Amino acid sequence: MVIAAPLGGRGAPHRPVLLEETLKFLAPERGGLFIDCTVGLGGHSEAILKSSNETRVIGIDLDPAALAYSRQRLAPFRDRFSAFQANFRAVAAVLEQADEHDPSGILVDLGVSSMQFDSPERGFSFRFDAPLGMRMDPTTGPTAADLLQQLPESEIARIIFEYGEERHSRRIARRIVERREQGKPITTTTELADLVRLAVGGHKRNQIHPATRTFQALRIAVNNELEGLGEFVGSVVDLLIPNGRFVGITFHSLEDRILKHELRRLSGYCECPPGLPVCSCGARNVVEVLTRRPVTPGAGEVEENPRARSAKLRAAEKI
Ligand SMILES: C[S@@+](CC[C@H](N)C(=O)[O-])C[C@H]1O[C@@H](n2cnc3c(N)ncnc32)[C@H](O)[C@@H]1O
Repeated sequence: MVIAAPLGGRGAPHRPVLLEETLKFLAPERGGLFIDCTVGLGGHSEAILKSSNETRVIGIDLDPAALAYSRQRLAPFRDRFSAFQANFRAVAAVLEQADEHDPSGILVDLGVSSMQFDSPERGFSFRFDAPLGMRMDPTTGPTAADLLQQLPESEIARIIFEYGEERHSRRIARRIVERREQGKPITTTTELADLVRLAVGGHKRNQIHPATRTFQALRIAVNNELEGLGEFVGSVVDLLIPNGRFVGITFHSLEDRILKHELRRLSGYCECPPGLPVCSCGARNVVEVLTRRPVTPGAGEVEENPRARSAKLRAAEKI
Protein backbone atom coordinates (compact mmCIF):
# COMPACT_ATOMS: atom_id res chain seq x y z
CA MET A 1 0.00 0.00 0.00
CA VAL A 2 1.29 3.46 -0.87
CA ILE A 3 0.79 5.94 1.96
CA ALA A 4 -0.19 9.40 0.72
CA ALA A 5 2.21 12.27 1.35
CA PRO A 6 0.86 14.57 4.04
CA LEU A 7 0.60 18.26 3.37
CA GLY A 8 2.27 21.00 5.40
CA GLY A 9 0.99 24.51 6.13
CA ARG A 10 -0.97 26.25 3.33
CA GLY A 11 -1.18 22.98 1.40
CA ALA A 12 2.58 22.89 0.68
CA PRO A 13 4.28 19.48 0.89
CA HIS A 14 5.44 18.77 4.45
CA ARG A 15 8.89 20.23 5.04
CA PRO A 16 11.11 19.55 8.01
CA VAL A 17 11.66 22.60 10.20
CA LEU A 18 15.09 24.30 10.36
CA LEU A 19 16.53 21.61 8.10
CA GLU A 20 19.71 23.40 6.97
CA GLU A 21 20.48 24.50 10.51
CA THR A 22 19.89 20.96 11.83
CA LEU A 23 22.34 19.52 9.28
CA LYS A 24 24.91 22.22 10.05
CA PHE A 25 24.94 21.30 13.75
CA LEU A 26 24.50 17.52 13.45
CA ALA A 27 27.21 17.33 10.75
CA PRO A 28 26.03 13.91 9.43
CA GLU A 29 28.49 14.04 6.51
CA ARG A 30 31.02 12.71 9.04
CA GLY A 31 29.19 9.36 8.84
CA GLY A 32 28.25 7.11 11.74
CA LEU A 33 25.04 6.37 13.60
CA PHE A 34 22.38 9.07 14.09
CA ILE A 35 19.27 8.76 16.20
CA ASP A 36 16.18 10.67 15.12
CA CYS A 37 14.13 10.53 18.33
CA THR A 38 11.02 11.94 16.63
CA VAL A 39 11.27 10.59 13.09
CA GLY A 40 7.71 11.66 12.18
CA LEU A 41 7.46 11.77 8.40
CA GLY A 42 11.19 11.18 8.00
CA GLY A 43 12.13 14.57 6.54
CA HIS A 44 15.14 15.20 8.79
CA SER A 45 16.15 11.53 8.63
CA GLU A 46 16.07 11.53 4.84
CA ALA A 47 18.39 14.54 4.70
CA ILE A 48 20.76 12.91 7.20
CA LEU A 49 20.85 9.70 5.16
CA LYS A 50 21.47 11.62 1.94
CA SER A 51 24.42 13.50 3.41
CA SER A 52 26.78 10.49 3.24
CA ASN A 53 26.63 6.81 2.32
CA GLU A 54 28.37 6.19 5.64
CA THR A 55 25.47 7.40 7.81
CA ARG A 56 22.89 5.16 9.43
CA VAL A 57 19.73 6.36 11.16
CA ILE A 58 17.60 4.84 13.87
CA GLY A 59 14.18 6.53 13.84
CA ILE A 60 11.89 6.51 16.87
CA ASP A 61 8.27 7.64 17.11
CA LEU A 62 5.24 6.97 19.26
CA ASP A 63 2.91 7.21 16.29
CA PRO A 64 2.43 4.00 14.25
CA ALA A 65 1.04 5.97 11.27
CA ALA A 66 4.12 8.23 11.16
CA LEU A 67 6.40 5.18 11.37
CA ALA A 68 4.56 3.45 8.52
CA TYR A 69 5.01 6.56 6.40
CA SER A 70 8.68 7.12 7.19
CA ARG A 71 9.52 3.41 6.74
CA GLN A 72 8.06 3.58 3.25
CA ARG A 73 9.74 6.91 2.45
CA LEU A 74 13.15 5.74 3.65
CA ALA A 75 12.99 2.20 2.21
CA PRO A 76 15.44 3.17 -0.60
CA PHE A 77 18.15 3.51 2.08
CA ARG A 78 17.68 -0.19 2.92
CA ASP A 79 19.38 -1.27 6.14
CA ARG A 80 20.88 2.18 6.73
CA PHE A 81 17.50 3.12 8.25
CA SER A 82 15.56 1.28 10.91
CA ALA A 83 12.46 2.43 12.80
CA PHE A 84 11.11 1.66 16.26
CA GLN A 85 7.80 2.48 17.88
CA ALA A 86 8.76 3.76 21.31
CA ASN A 87 8.79 6.76 23.57
CA PHE A 88 12.06 8.59 22.96
CA ARG A 89 12.61 8.61 26.71
CA ALA A 90 13.43 4.91 26.24
CA VAL A 91 16.13 5.62 23.64
CA ALA A 92 18.77 3.59 25.53
CA ALA A 93 16.50 0.52 25.44
CA VAL A 94 15.86 1.04 21.72
CA LEU A 95 19.62 1.11 21.06
CA GLU A 96 20.01 -2.09 23.03
CA GLN A 97 17.18 -3.74 21.07
CA ALA A 98 18.80 -2.62 17.81
CA ASP A 99 22.18 -3.88 19.06
CA GLU A 100 23.67 -0.46 18.30
CA HIS A 101 25.77 1.97 20.31
CA ASP A 102 27.98 5.06 20.09
CA PRO A 103 25.77 7.48 18.14
CA SER A 104 27.50 10.42 16.44
CA GLY A 105 24.37 12.53 16.60
CA ILE A 106 20.97 12.69 18.26
CA LEU A 107 18.05 14.81 17.07
CA VAL A 108 14.77 15.53 18.81
CA ASP A 109 12.18 17.64 16.93
CA LEU A 110 9.39 18.04 19.45
CA GLY A 111 5.71 18.70 18.98
CA VAL A 112 3.14 17.49 16.50
CA SER A 113 3.72 16.48 12.87
CA SER A 114 1.71 17.87 9.98
CA MET A 115 0.37 14.35 9.36
CA GLN A 116 -1.10 14.28 12.87
CA PHE A 117 -2.36 17.85 12.70
CA ASP A 118 -3.92 17.42 9.25
CA SER A 119 -5.58 14.02 9.89
CA PRO A 120 -9.16 14.88 10.86
CA GLU A 121 -9.77 11.67 12.82
CA ARG A 122 -6.77 12.26 15.14
CA GLY A 123 -8.60 15.12 16.84
CA PHE A 124 -5.57 17.48 17.10
CA SER A 125 -7.18 20.36 15.21
CA PHE A 126 -10.38 22.39 15.49
CA ARG A 127 -10.35 22.73 11.69
CA PHE A 128 -12.13 19.36 11.52
CA ASP A 129 -15.08 18.06 13.52
CA ALA A 130 -13.82 14.86 15.16
CA PRO A 131 -13.63 13.03 18.48
CA LEU A 132 -11.32 14.92 20.84
CA GLY A 133 -8.40 12.45 20.73
CA MET A 134 -4.96 14.13 20.49
CA ARG A 135 -2.91 11.03 21.33
CA MET A 136 0.38 10.66 19.46
CA ASP A 137 0.07 6.93 20.07
CA PRO A 138 -3.67 6.52 19.42
CA THR A 139 -3.69 3.04 20.95
CA THR A 140 -2.92 3.86 24.58
CA GLY A 141 -3.65 6.33 27.35
CA PRO A 142 -6.45 8.79 28.01
CA THR A 143 -7.71 11.05 25.21
CA ALA A 144 -8.23 14.81 25.58
CA ALA A 145 -11.96 14.13 26.02
CA ASP A 146 -11.15 11.72 28.88
CA LEU A 147 -9.05 14.38 30.63
CA LEU A 148 -11.83 16.96 30.33
CA GLN A 149 -14.28 14.42 31.73
CA GLN A 150 -12.08 13.22 34.62
CA LEU A 151 -9.82 16.03 35.88
CA PRO A 152 -10.85 18.49 38.59
CA GLU A 153 -11.68 22.00 37.40
CA SER A 154 -8.55 23.46 39.03
CA GLU A 155 -6.31 20.99 37.17
CA ILE A 156 -7.99 21.74 33.82
CA ALA A 157 -7.45 25.46 34.49
CA ARG A 158 -3.79 24.87 35.43
CA ILE A 159 -3.12 22.89 32.24
CA ILE A 160 -4.72 25.54 30.03
CA PHE A 161 -2.89 28.35 31.85
CA GLU A 162 0.56 26.75 32.08
CA TYR A 163 0.78 24.86 28.80
CA GLY A 164 -1.39 27.20 26.73
CA GLU A 165 -0.42 30.50 28.41
CA GLU A 166 -4.16 31.28 28.17
CA ARG A 167 -5.22 34.10 30.48
CA HIS A 168 -8.88 33.03 30.36
CA SER A 169 -8.01 29.53 31.58
CA ARG A 170 -10.27 29.61 34.67
CA ARG A 171 -13.27 30.78 32.66
CA ILE A 172 -12.74 28.04 30.08
CA ALA A 173 -12.31 25.35 32.77
CA ARG A 174 -15.51 26.55 34.52
CA ARG A 175 -17.54 26.19 31.30
CA ILE A 176 -16.09 22.73 30.63
CA VAL A 177 -17.04 21.54 34.10
CA GLU A 178 -20.48 23.19 33.92
CA ARG A 179 -21.20 21.19 30.76
CA ARG A 180 -20.07 17.98 32.31
CA GLU A 181 -22.24 18.64 35.39
CA GLN A 182 -25.20 19.07 33.02
CA GLY A 183 -24.48 15.59 31.63
CA LYS A 184 -23.16 17.03 28.33
CA PRO A 185 -19.38 16.44 28.48
CA ILE A 186 -17.16 17.79 25.70
CA THR A 187 -16.35 14.94 23.33
CA THR A 188 -15.49 16.61 20.01
CA THR A 189 -13.08 19.21 18.62
CA THR A 190 -15.93 21.45 17.47
CA GLU A 191 -17.66 21.36 20.85
CA LEU A 192 -14.44 22.44 22.57
CA ALA A 193 -13.62 25.15 19.99
CA ASP A 194 -17.18 26.58 20.26
CA LEU A 195 -17.06 26.51 24.07
CA VAL A 196 -13.71 28.37 24.13
CA ARG A 197 -14.94 30.95 21.61
CA LEU A 198 -18.01 31.61 23.77
CA ALA A 199 -15.91 31.77 26.95
CA VAL A 200 -13.30 34.23 25.66
CA GLY A 201 -15.17 36.09 22.92
CA GLY A 202 -14.52 36.19 19.16
CA HIS A 203 -11.24 37.10 17.48
CA LYS A 204 -10.17 39.76 15.01
CA ARG A 205 -8.93 38.93 11.52
CA ASN A 206 -5.20 38.06 11.54
CA GLN A 207 -5.40 36.92 15.17
CA ILE A 208 -5.02 33.27 16.05
CA HIS A 209 -8.25 31.34 16.67
CA PRO A 210 -9.24 31.72 20.36
CA ALA A 211 -9.13 27.94 20.86
CA THR A 212 -5.51 27.58 19.62
CA ARG A 213 -3.93 27.91 23.07
CA THR A 214 -6.42 25.55 24.74
CA PHE A 215 -5.88 22.88 22.07
CA GLN A 216 -2.10 23.17 22.41
CA ALA A 217 -2.32 22.89 26.21
CA LEU A 218 -4.49 19.78 26.08
CA ARG A 219 -2.20 18.11 23.54
CA ILE A 220 0.80 18.70 25.80
CA ALA A 221 -1.11 17.23 28.77
CA VAL A 222 -2.46 14.19 26.87
CA ASN A 223 1.03 13.24 25.66
CA ASN A 224 2.94 14.23 28.83
CA GLU A 225 5.19 16.23 26.55
CA LEU A 226 7.12 18.12 29.23
CA GLU A 227 7.49 15.32 31.74
CA GLY A 228 11.08 14.12 32.08
CA LEU A 229 12.32 16.20 29.14
CA GLY A 230 15.31 17.55 31.10
CA GLU A 231 16.33 14.08 32.30
CA PHE A 232 15.97 12.79 28.74
CA VAL A 233 18.47 15.38 27.43
CA GLY A 234 20.94 14.48 30.20
CA SER A 235 20.67 10.77 29.46
CA VAL A 236 21.01 10.98 25.66
CA VAL A 237 24.08 13.15 25.91
CA ASP A 238 25.70 10.31 27.85
CA LEU A 239 25.12 7.98 24.87
CA LEU A 240 27.00 10.19 22.37
CA ILE A 241 30.59 9.56 21.30
CA PRO A 242 33.14 12.34 22.04
CA ASN A 243 32.49 15.20 19.58
CA GLY A 244 29.01 13.72 18.94
CA ARG A 245 26.29 16.31 18.51
CA PHE A 246 22.88 16.83 20.10
CA VAL A 247 20.23 18.98 18.38
CA GLY A 248 16.86 19.84 19.94
CA ILE A 249 14.04 21.71 18.19
CA THR A 250 11.17 23.04 20.32
CA PHE A 251 7.91 24.86 19.57
CA HIS A 252 6.88 25.96 23.05
CA SER A 253 8.55 28.38 25.47
CA LEU A 254 8.40 25.88 28.36
CA GLU A 255 10.16 23.20 26.28
CA ASP A 256 12.81 25.67 25.17
CA ARG A 257 13.39 26.77 28.75
CA ILE A 258 13.89 23.16 29.86
CA LEU A 259 16.33 22.53 27.00
CA LYS A 260 18.26 25.73 27.67
CA HIS A 261 18.70 25.04 31.38
CA GLU A 262 19.57 21.38 30.89
CA LEU A 263 22.26 22.16 28.30
CA ARG A 264 23.67 24.87 30.59
CA ARG A 265 23.87 22.39 33.46
CA LEU A 266 25.48 19.80 31.18
CA SER A 267 28.10 22.40 30.21
CA GLY A 268 29.06 22.72 33.89
CA TYR A 269 27.10 25.88 34.73
CA CYS A 270 25.86 25.50 38.30
CA GLU A 271 22.34 26.86 38.83
CA CYS A 272 22.23 26.36 42.60
CA PRO A 273 21.31 29.36 44.74
CA PRO A 274 24.47 31.26 45.81
CA GLY A 275 25.99 30.17 49.12
CA LEU A 276 25.19 26.43 48.94
CA PRO A 277 28.25 24.52 50.17
CA VAL A 278 27.80 21.68 47.61
CA CYS A 279 26.25 21.79 44.14
CA SER A 280 22.88 20.03 44.11
CA CYS A 281 21.57 20.99 40.64
CA GLY A 282 23.46 18.20 38.88
CA ALA A 283 25.80 20.48 36.91
CA ARG A 284 28.56 18.54 35.11
CA ASN A 285 30.93 19.51 32.37
CA VAL A 286 30.14 17.05 29.56
CA VAL A 287 29.10 19.23 26.61
CA GLU A 288 29.99 22.46 24.90
CA VAL A 289 26.87 24.44 24.00
CA LEU A 290 27.08 25.43 20.30
CA THR A 291 24.14 27.88 20.31
CA ARG A 292 24.50 30.81 22.72
CA ARG A 293 21.03 31.89 21.65
CA PRO A 294 18.37 29.65 20.10
CA VAL A 295 18.44 29.46 16.31
CA THR A 296 15.10 30.46 14.77
CA PRO A 297 13.76 30.14 11.21
CA GLY A 298 14.27 32.98 8.76
CA ALA A 299 11.40 34.98 7.27
CA GLY A 300 11.51 32.87 4.09
CA GLU A 301 10.97 29.60 5.96
CA VAL A 302 8.11 31.06 8.02
CA GLU A 303 6.50 32.46 4.87
CA GLU A 304 6.66 29.02 3.23
CA ASN A 305 5.75 27.09 6.37
CA PRO A 306 3.89 29.17 8.99
CA ARG A 307 4.04 26.26 11.45
CA ALA A 308 7.78 26.88 11.73
CA ARG A 309 7.23 30.33 13.26
CA SER A 310 7.70 29.30 16.90
CA ALA A 311 10.56 26.83 16.30
CA LYS A 312 13.80 27.21 18.28
CA LEU A 313 16.88 25.06 17.86
CA ARG A 314 19.63 24.48 20.42
CA ALA A 315 22.69 22.32 19.88
CA ALA A 316 25.60 20.97 21.90
CA GLU A 317 28.73 18.89 21.33
CA LYS A 318 29.82 16.12 23.66
CA ILE A 319 33.26 16.80 25.13
C1 LIG B 1 7.44 17.60 14.69
S1 LIG B 1 7.19 15.92 14.39
C2 LIG B 1 8.72 15.39 13.71
C3 LIG B 1 8.85 15.66 12.25
C4 LIG B 1 10.10 15.04 11.64
N1 LIG B 1 11.31 15.64 12.14
C5 LIG B 1 10.06 15.12 10.13
O1 LIG B 1 10.99 15.65 9.52
O2 LIG B 1 9.09 14.64 9.54
C6 LIG B 1 7.24 15.24 15.99
C7 LIG B 1 7.04 13.74 16.06
O3 LIG B 1 7.44 13.34 17.37
C8 LIG B 1 6.62 12.30 17.80
N2 LIG B 1 6.69 12.28 19.25
C9 LIG B 1 6.27 13.22 20.11
N3 LIG B 1 6.55 12.86 21.37
C10 LIG B 1 7.20 11.68 21.31
C11 LIG B 1 7.78 10.81 22.29
N4 LIG B 1 7.73 11.10 23.58
N5 LIG B 1 8.39 9.70 21.86
C12 LIG B 1 8.45 9.40 20.53
N6 LIG B 1 7.91 10.17 19.57
C13 LIG B 1 7.30 11.30 19.95
C14 LIG B 1 5.26 12.64 17.25
O4 LIG B 1 4.46 11.48 17.13
C15 LIG B 1 5.62 13.26 15.89
O5 LIG B 1 5.57 12.30 14.86
